[in-house]
Amino acid sequence: MGIVRDGDLELMKEPGRIVRKALNEMKDFIEPGVTTEEIEMVGKRVIESEGGVPSFLGYNGYPAAVCVSINDEVVHGIPSTGKVVKRGDLVSIDVGVFKNGFHGDAADTVAVGVTDPRAMLLVKTVYEARDRGIAAARAGATLGDVGAAIQDTVEAMGFSVVRALVGHGIGRRLHEPPQVPNFGRAGKGMKLTDGLAIAIEPMVNQGDYRVYTLSDNWTVVTADGSISAHAEHTIVVQGSEPLILTA
Ligand code: CO
Repeated sequence: MGIVRDGDLELMKEPGRIVRKALNEMKDFIEPGVTTEEIEMVGKRVIESEGGVPSFLGYNGYPAAVCVSINDEVVHGIPSTGKVVKRGDLVSIDVGVFKNGFHGDAADTVAVGVTDPRAMLLVKTVYEARDRGIAAARAGATLGDVGAAIQDTVEAMGFSVVRALVGHGIGRRLHEPPQVPNFGRAGKGMKLTDGLAIAIEPMVNQGDYRVYTLSDNWTVVTADGSISAHAEHTIVVQGSEPLILTA
């Protein structure tokens, strides 16, 4: 369980800070024509220059430091020299950093010269859903409160929330209990307590919520081919307002 003691909280701020720095530098770098491998190199360079270790590299055999998922790719896209970002793409970038004995994990979705208003609304909605989920993560609330806040936000816009993948506890390991679904019913599920560290990470599809994994055994794509967006923060539950470690 991702329960953080007082002294540990200070230690956990550092991987969170590096995750944010890596995401920001990757976002600044992304433009039409760059490859997803080049995005990986920017992220990896930031992580290593800040004295961190990429959490994802080697995790269950994952072959890269970051995940870059474009359009109908939901999450876990493997960076590749053959994959080029083009105008109109939705590019989701996901970064994990290990330092001071703790992990931080966050993701953003960048719209590259996107003009389609529904696609722009999808991106806006994934951030809003994540932030409403975070706002619901107060001590005494439940995991169902978090999931319901996210699901309601997404479905009110006519989009769908992925069920097959969920958020997670985080701390000395990248993935710890509890699982943090992006759907649910208010009042149900485990009660949140002070010091609980979790990664809240809605994945929102423009069409159907169903997904499958490609034959590379990593890349998760939408079943109906619709576009998808992902946003994630690592937070620590603290009274009525959580601390966002990857802000
Ligand atoms: Co995560």
